[in-house]
Amino acid sequence: MTAVTARAPAKINVHLAVGPLRADGFHELRTVYLAVSLFDTVTARPGDGLALTVTGEGTGAAEGADAVPTDRRNLVWRAAELLAEHAGVPADAQLEVAKSIPAAAGLAGGSADAAAALVALDALWGTRADRADLLALAARLGSDVPFSLLGGVALGTGRGEQLTPVLARRSWHWVLGIAGEGLSTPSVYAELDRLRDDGRVPDGADLLPAEPVMAALRSGPAIALAAALANDLQPAAVGLRPALRRALRVATDAGALGALVSGSGPTVAALAEDEQAAVGLAAAMAGEGVFRTVRAVAGPVPGARLVS
Ligand code: C5P
Repeated sequence: MTAVTARAPAKINVHLAVGPLRADGFHELRTVYLAVSLFDTVTARPGDGLALTVTGEGTGAAEGADAVPTDRRNLVWRAAELLAEHAGVPADAQLEVAKSIPAAAGLAGGSADAAAALVALDALWGTRADRADLLALAARLGSDVPFSLLGGVALGTGRGEQLTPVLARRSWHWVLGIAGEGLSTPSVYAELDRLRDDGRVPDGADLLPAEPVMAALRSGPAIALAAALANDLQPAAVGLRPALRRALRVATDAGALGALVSGSGPTVAALAEDEQAAVGLAAAMAGEGVFRTVRAVAGPVPGARLVS
């Protein structure tokens, strides 16, 4: 086999309820993930040891939260080591990540890369790991990696890694607007803890129920889904990136049915009525100068899979 390519989608969280900080440093979550049509690809070729190159969106940034490492700090590298260890094969591969998902944007770009790497390397090495094995390896790599493998729509509990697929009646059109440079996920969670310690937001002891958003996903109208969008991390992301407040207003003023910060931000996910409305919304949002990148996407879409 000479080359295998897999791709995996970005995610947004249409519901993100965050519980108190646990003893292991993670927060208990009740989240609803939705995979959208923005993909990173990972190509794996035979090699001697591991080698990694990264091209595309955000990789020009040499420093800061957006810089994508090309060594063991990259989740793709760790995914390769973990799968090799699990399968009892040498970790030999040349890996090439082509990014369309902006890094450190709250879109699970790094998790998508790890999930695509697991799928590509499973094929390259002929390890034939079953889905359950891959999901377990994915959970060791990061809280969002299992969802990047699964795709579609899913309820995530635990630290987000325990998944239950959710029925969705249709696909929806979204506009993703990235408000500035990357935000570090741990800092956004830490900011939420601080806001809670100061009594400025509810303490999270009672996790916000996901039923309203699940009902909206089952029933279908975009306006119903818009009304049910929720993210406990949003005040923390806005606290660290005040421009997000204006970014959210820009999205709704530009005609979004609803808008929220995706995950830990700084992406604003804006919901449109249909594809044509999404194209118009994307153009209006791009014209305001608050977003560094604007993309019209649709979802749900499937999780990580081979493309060639
Ligand atoms: O699981 P992952 O490595 O993606 O998590 C990155 C960081 O985000 C964690 O180290 C933690 O600070 C924070 N996090 C959290 N609770 C979660 C998921 C992530 O506090 N459920």
